[in-house]
Amino acid sequence: MKNYKRYLITSALPYANGPLHIGHLAGVYVPSDIYTRYLRLKGVDVISICGSDEHGVPITLKARNEGITPQEVVDRYHAINKKAFEDFGIAFDIYSRTSNKIHYETASDFFLTLYKKGEFIEKTSEQYYDEEAGCFLADRYIIGTCPHCGNENAYGDQCEKCGNSLSPNDLINPRSTISGSEPVMRETLHWYLPLDKYEGWLRQWILEDHKEWKTNVYGQCKSWIDQGLQPRAVSRDLDWGVPVPVEGAEGKVLYVWFDAPIGYISATRELTPDWEKYWKDPETKMVHFIGKDNIVFHCIIFPSMLRAEGSYILPDNVPANEFLNLENDKISTSRNWAVWLHEYLEDFPGKQDVLRYSLCSNAPETKDNDFTWKDFQARNNNELVAILGNFVNRALVLTGKYYDGFVPERNETTEFDRSVLDEISRLKTNVEESLESYRFREALREAMNLARLGNKYLADSEPWKLVKTDPDRVRTIMNISMQITANLTIVLQPFLPFSMETLRKWIRMELRPWSDAGRDDLLPAGHRIGKPGLLFEKIEDADIEKQINKLMSSRKANEAAAVQAAPAKDTVSFDDFTRIDIRTATILEAEKVPKTTRLLKLKIDTGLDIRTIVSGIAEYYNPADIVGRQISIVANLEPRKIKGIESKGMILMAEDKDGKLVMVSPESPVSNGSTIK
Ligand code: MF3
Ligand code: ZN
Repeated sequence: MKNYKRYLITSALPYANGPLHIGHLAGVYVPSDIYTRYLRLKGVDVISICGSDEHGVPITLKARNEGITPQEVVDRYHAINKKAFEDFGIAFDIYSRTSNKIHYETASDFFLTLYKKGEFIEKTSEQYYDEEAGCFLADRYIIGTCPHCGNENAYGDQCEKCGNSLSPNDLINPRSTISGSEPVMRETLHWYLPLDKYEGWLRQWILEDHKEWKTNVYGQCKSWIDQGLQPRAVSRDLDWGVPVPVEGAEGKVLYVWFDAPIGYISATRELTPDWEKYWKDPETKMVHFIGKDNIVFHCIIFPSMLRAEGSYILPDNVPANEFLNLENDKISTSRNWAVWLHEYLEDFPGKQDVLRYSLCSNAPETKDNDFTWKDFQARNNNELVAILGNFVNRALVLTGKYYDGFVPERNETTEFDRSVLDEISRLKTNVEESLESYRFREALREAMNLARLGNKYLADSEPWKLVKTDPDRVRTIMNISMQITANLTIVLQPFLPFSMETLRKWIRMELRPWSDAGRDDLLPAGHRIGKPGLLFEKIEDADIEKQINKLMSSRKANEAAAVQAAPAKDTVSFDDFTRIDIRTATILEAEKVPKTTRLLKLKIDTGLDIRTIVSGIAEYYNPADIVGRQISIVANLEPRKIKGIESKGMILMAEDKDGKLVMVSPESPVSNGSTIK
């Protein structure tokens, strides 16, 4: 393995068009934070870069829908997301944003360099144009009928009803969402990065030189390269983004996926005047933390851009994660199927580490994984409380009780003691190896094994039984227990920074460098520790039920919203409307019409008369249950014979999309025959 002088850690810039949820943390930010914190403990030169991705069509659409500007949208979510990261201890050196001036300059210059070097192809193509609004239409701004399922409101890039991905040309009867008018085809000029030109180089660089990349990442890259790469447009006709900095490009901006990764560079420039050493010196190890939907951009497109530019380094690794599901269902912002970070902290204040722990233990490192609240509870109660909290508590409480908080001398050690001490440094090495190869779940498990070791040590050596008879022995046991505790504050620091800070306060220890982990003299005899509290608390069933209920109400709301209303009918005049005699009536008798499944014969009091109506509601109502019920009827509907019975009028029913019928009744009793208008 190459020895690098410094590290540049980047984490995918989240779009500033919505809040962050647990999927973001588990996939990208918890791992990148653990890795960065570990490197900082090692004392190496490392910077961690992130920020908001503030361009792209979804942001302009959201702004339009809410009647505000795109800048207002990104200002809102930039602030919310920056705070969420801070709250969860995701400690970037900078959290920047791509609407910054420095980013506009950096992205613009980057484009110009490639432009001047002749790295782009210029091509005109035909695209939909809205003549009324006077602008080209991004795919999402065009709706029309889906050729696959007939959905009349399919988008130019996807039909949300049948899930097929579309291109605007596939839509039948396309219309602009801006003006509603029918768009026309118009020629437009764009700049393309000829990815095909980089195919041979990419094949060598990734498929030969980076066989160590995670299989999910390597596999995706291989399949992209094997399919053959095409030139990719790097500009768009849009009025939100970094303007294309060449003449004749009015109304055109850089494609969001061209400018966003350059955001890593802009943020570094904003952070330090020394930014070039991080980006241009081959002694820098660059690592991109991302989710799997970002692989092609970080492994193929951005590296090709960097290579075309010529003066930048390339990533050493791109440890992309798969996706986290929630309670067996895809996390979805629009369906509100998510655990939002800000809401979590309202319900579990101070428990950042519990979420960090459960997300890391369950991280979707090699395949999609599922977050469940039951698992979250179990991780907390059975691991954080029962293993880590329990050990630390016993070590600290016994030291307080036996020695008034003074760490006792270590006397003669037994073979068991020595094996435990050896195990500390072995576990440290394991954690290190797992972290260096981006296996964070495994790293955390090994770090927790140190707490398991501590518990086993106390359980096997039973100091509480020996304290009267063999005080020398107990001093040794408690000394070793305190060394284990001190080691925990180092090896768990990257994972559980909040709790380890608390624990260090209790044992009155400074944050020690990673290289000190494994030592058996971190707390010298005579050092006095403080009073401990509880590091973790049990999470009760009621707390978990509350979360599950919250999700269930999202599910219900979604199901209700999924009902598609029938299309609107033509308008009628008020006169036409008043010709229909709608009034209240009461059901006096009800019986099934023989030999039918759906029909009930009802005798009703209309206030005018007592009459018979046959109604198709037998599947939904029991005759006995509806006698006495007040309903609404159309009283002047032409009489009809149904199954030989004369039916005079019709009962008003609401019919849902599945054909289920519900009677429309007055909200409170009124006299029969009251007109309804
Ligand atoms: N905003 C993108 C997403 O959430 C990620 C951008 S990463 C960057 O999928 F490299 F482009 F910055
Ligand atoms: Zn469809």
